[in-house]
Amino acid sequence: MRFWLVLQQLALLVLIITTDALNNNETDHVSLLAMKSKILDPFGGGALSSWNESSHFCNWEGVLCGKRHKRVTLIDLTSLGLSGTLSPHVGNLTFLRRLWLDNNSFHGEIPNEIGGLYRLKELVLQRNSFQGRIPVSLSRCSSLAYLYFGSNNLVGTIPEEFSSLSMLKKINVYENNLTGGVPKFLGNITSLQGFSASYNLFGGTIPNNLGQLKNLVFLGLAGNQISGMIPSSLYNLSNLIVLSLPFNHLHGSLPPYIGNMFPHLERLELHVNNFTGQLPNSIGNLTKVVNLSFAVNKFSGKLTVDFSKLVNLLILHLHVDNLGSGDFDEMNFLESLTNCSSLEMLIINRNQLRGVLPDLVGNLSSNMNFFTLDSNQLQGRIPPTIGNLVNLSFLNMEDNRFTGPIPCTIGKLQKLQRFSLGRNQLSGTIPDSIGNLSLVNDLSFSNNNLEGTIPSSIATAKD
Ligand SMILES: *[C@@H]1O[C@H](CO)[C@@H](O)[C@H](O)[C@H]1NC(C)=O
Ligand SMILES: *[C@@H]1O[C@H](CO)[C@@H](O)[C@H](O)[C@H]1NC(C)=O
Ligand SMILES: *[C@@H]1O[C@H](CO)[C@@H](O)[C@H](O)[C@H]1NC(C)=O
Ligand SMILES: *[C@@H]1O[C@H](CO)[C@@H](O)[C@H](O)[C@H]1NC(C)=O
Ligand SMILES: *[C@@H]1O[C@H](CO)[C@@H](O)[C@H](O)[C@H]1NC(C)=O
Ligand SMILES: *[C@@H]1O[C@H](CO)[C@@H](O)[C@H](O)[C@H]1NC(C)=O
Ligand SMILES: *[C@@H]1O[C@H](CO)[C@@H](O)[C@H](O)[C@H]1NC(C)=O
Ligand SMILES: *[C@@H]1O[C@H](CO)[C@@H](O)[C@H](O)[C@H]1NC(C)=O
Ligand SMILES: *[C@@H]1O[C@H](CO)[C@@H](O)[C@H](O)[C@H]1NC(C)=O
Ligand SMILES: *[C@@H]1O[C@H](CO)[C@@H](O)[C@H](O)[C@H]1NC(C)=O
Repeated sequence: MRFWLVLQQLALLVLIITTDALNNNETDHVSLLAMKSKILDPFGGGALSSWNESSHFCNWEGVLCGKRHKRVTLIDLTSLGLSGTLSPHVGNLTFLRRLWLDNNSFHGEIPNEIGGLYRLKELVLQRNSFQGRIPVSLSRCSSLAYLYFGSNNLVGTIPEEFSSLSMLKKINVYENNLTGGVPKFLGNITSLQGFSASYNLFGGTIPNNLGQLKNLVFLGLAGNQISGMIPSSLYNLSNLIVLSLPFNHLHGSLPPYIGNMFPHLERLELHVNNFTGQLPNSIGNLTKVVNLSFAVNKFSGKLTVDFSKLVNLLILHLHVDNLGSGDFDEMNFLESLTNCSSLEMLIINRNQLRGVLPDLVGNLSSNMNFFTLDSNQLQGRIPPTIGNLVNLSFLNMEDNRFTGPIPCTIGKLQKLQRFSLGRNQLSGTIPDSIGNLSLVNDLSFSNNNLEGTIPSSIATAKD
């Protein structure tokens, strides 16, 4: 018994000594050459041609060494068009802190040996074709802060063992085939600032304890199969800049206070889920917001949000909800939107809007280039002021109950490429000014009571 114990200790000692002895600059040299031997450089050896014996490896392209110890601390092979595999020898570069292989065509598995890089802080493997599982061994790299695996072909789960990586700031694994859902242990990594796992095969729910991540600024879970409600703890994440949860199976209504919780939020993306209820007025307090997307849900009722403080808003995306009250003035929310001087896209088609389009539609941002109102039940005439939106390239008003003439001010929309007024109850003659819309390649006036012809000047763009 005692003999075996001594022998074991002896073996451990030998192991430590040999590891130390081998952990020298020659190891780095050998390891880099071993890595090179697995890399295919399609540009005739261009990128890695400096990795040769004519100079010290610390001078090789993409290699950085510590000044004193001459050991490799950074490998930067970003965007060099490289393919091949990542050699297990990489695990011997024990001084390595940053490994950047972003945007190449590496394939094969991420070698387990990478877990030997106990000083590693940044592992950037995104935008390659790495396969297999995320190595559990990485949990030994306790200094890891940035783990970028996005856009590869990885499968399996994010290993439980990563719960010990208490220095992690950013994890991105977007666009892989990962399963298993958002790991609960993430809630314990309080240093976490960003978690991006969009477009994987995550099921399950959003863990409640993510609400503990006070430093979180980015949460991206788009395009998974996540169900349940947004846990109320999430509304405590007051540093969030991006909350992106579209293309999932989330349900429930948004709490009335949602817009008062995120003073820094720039992107709120909830489209293509099963959310219900009214859009809370507090959304008007998301003063930093740039992109608001609620489309393809079951939101309903009158839109009463005052948007006037959202001066950075670029995109308001509300199509295929059930918004609408039937009130004559229900389009008056447009008034507050006139203060959003950056607004470029306003998408409010396929709702139940039945009011009239107010004249102040022409006071919307002159930056507007995409405007869809179609498939509602809007009534009354089309305000001539619409001709003020001179940067529109896409205007769809079809399938409503607009009456009266087409305003000739439409001719001022010189940048229009697609324009549809079909399936309304418009009457009168088609104004000549339509002939000025030289860029239009998709024009529809069908199913109205219009007279006259589409001017020959744009005869190619016909009904
Ligand atoms: C490795 O270090 C030894 C001793 O410090 C030195 O003599 C040798 O030139 C170094 N080799 C490389 C490849 O840096
Ligand atoms: C070896 O690397 C040097 C730069 O360090 C380069 O000038 C030279 O062309 C390389 N030799 C070969 C054979 O690629
Ligand atoms: C990716 O790398 C290629 C060269 O292989 C480069 O042309 C391209 O600009 C890079 N893409 C990005 C987004 O950096
Ligand atoms: C480095 O790593 C490889 C593969 O993981 C291993 O075979 C080798 O013994 C290691 N040591 C040295 C000094 O290269
Ligand atoms: C999170 O940390 C707490 C306290 O250290 C621990 O009890 C719990 O099991 C951890 N949860 C997960 C999912 O790792
Ligand atoms: C939100 O934070 C407050 C104060 O820090 C705390 O009292 C509350 O329990 C938290 N709510 C949730 C749902 O986590
Ligand atoms: C918006 O914020 C202001 C100032 O904090 C607050 O008084 C107001 O009640 C908020 N509006 C809504 C609709 O929550
Ligand atoms: C409208 O926007 C301007 C800045 O563009 C801002 O100063 C003003 O306060 C906004 N109006 C309201 C009601 O928030
Ligand atoms: C819209 O613009 C017109 C002309 O610039 C102006 O007279 C009118 O007061 C504006 N209306 C609103 C609601 O801002
Ligand atoms: C067509 O545009 C020209 C200038 O591009 C303008 O002078 C003319 O008045 C416009 N015609 C109509 C009918 O709007």
